Order: sequence, then structure tokens, then C-alpha cells
Amino acid sequence: MKKILVLFAHPAFKRSKMNAALRAAIEDLEGVTFHDLYASYPDFLIDVPREQDLCESHDIIVFQHPFYWYSTPAILKEWMDLVLEHEWAYGSTGNALAGKISFQALTAGGDITNYRAGGMNMFTIRELTTPYRATANLCKIEWLPPFAVLGIHQGLSEEECIQRAEEYRRTLIALRDERLDLDRAKECEFLNQDLDAILKQV
Ligand SMILES: Cc1cc2nc3c(=O)[nH]c(=O)nc-3n(C[C@H](O)[C@H](O)[C@H](O)COP(=O)(O)O)c2cc1C
Repeated sequence: MKKILVLFAHPAFKRSKMNAALRAAIEDLEGVTFHDLYASYPDFLIDVPREQDLCESHDIIVFQHPFYWYSTPAILKEWMDLVLEHEWAYGSTGNALAGKISFQALTAGGDITNYRAGGMNMFTIRELTTPYRATANLCKIEWLPPFAVLGIHQGLSEEECIQRAEEYRRTLIALRDERLDLDRAKECEFLNQDLDAILKQV
């Protein structure tokens, strides 16, 4: 069983609907460590050795966050700047993360029609998340496309929220139990585009 670390970043969690639903769906899962960065570091004083230990003791790292300004809430940038040290995460002897898997689990106000060439936001989510892909590459991490919940500004129904949360739970369970076809997953725009298609047949 693979161990999953969820690095969660939401600066206004009390007002969250979608991330709260996603969180509730996976927090209790065996093999999952849920780590709320804003709750742990309200002053942004990130404990680098603790974070590096957490990364080292897990196989899969998930960055869960709302999409803010085509990127992440600020604490995730701070986390990257401080935790991903030279000769730990990257560099000729920096192999602490090599072979691990990582991806973003993000929620966004805009819908799929906004995130495309010619659309309001000009680029796809996959294009806008390339800094995470490039970072994974530098750190010798196996990158996967984001798990994404889009169109929140249009108002997702209660049923849709429950469905997306259930997909998130299924995704983490499949990764934990090594039942996700990683090569096929990498080809997807989103991990949850067609979960059944990327689950290994048993
Ligand atoms: C500061 C800020 C920046 C945002 N930037 C974007 C953005 O770039 N693209 C987008 O689609 N939605 C954007 N949103 C909308 C959030 O992504 C959306 O409210 C959030 O995913 C909803 O999740 P929640 O219910 O967990 O808060 C932004 C919201 C805030 C507050």
C-alpha cells in the first residue's frame, strides 16, 4: 500500500464548499496523511525539516488547493521555495523525492469553456499548471495531470459536489492500492476525466 501525503492550502477554509467536500471525502482514508498548511503555519513559518521528513515518508504527494490567480494560494509557493532545497530535492545529489508521484487536486471558478485557447482564460488548466510539471521533472518525480473540479462560479449542485468528492476518494484509493494505470493517466487532461478508463482491470 502506497502512502499519500495531501498538502492542503486554503486560506479561507471556513468559507470553502468544494475543498471542504473533497477534504471530508479523503481525510479518514487509511494510508492518507492530510496536512493543512494554513492551519499548521498561520504565520508562514514553515518547519522545513518536518516537511522534508513528511515528504520522505510518503510515496505520493498531492497538492490540494483552490486555483488562485491561475496558480495556488501563497503558502504553497512559500512551501516550494523553502522545502525543495538544492541537493535535497534537486541537484546532482538531491534525490529525496526521486520516484515519488505528485499531482495537484484543484478547484476553480472558471469552467472548461473558459480554460482553452480563445476562451476567457486563454490557456488550458494543463498548460497553466506546467510549473508543477517542470518542478516534478527537476525533482525526478513522476508527474500526473491535476484532479480538477471546474465551474464552481456557475454553482455546482449538491449532487455534483458529492460526485466530485467521491471521484477524489476513488482516485486516492486507486493510487494507494496501485490500481491506476499511470501511463494512461498521464495522457489525460484531468485525472478525473474518465476514472474508469485509467483504472487497472483486476
Ligand atoms: C484570490 C482568488 C483568486 C482566484 N483566482 C481564480 C483563478 O485564477 N481562476 C479561477 O478559475 N478561479 C479563481 N478563483 C475562484 C476559486 O478558485 C474558487 O472560489 C474556489 O476554487 C472554490 O473552492 P472552495 O469552495 O473550496 O473555496 C479565485 C478566488 C480567489 C478568492
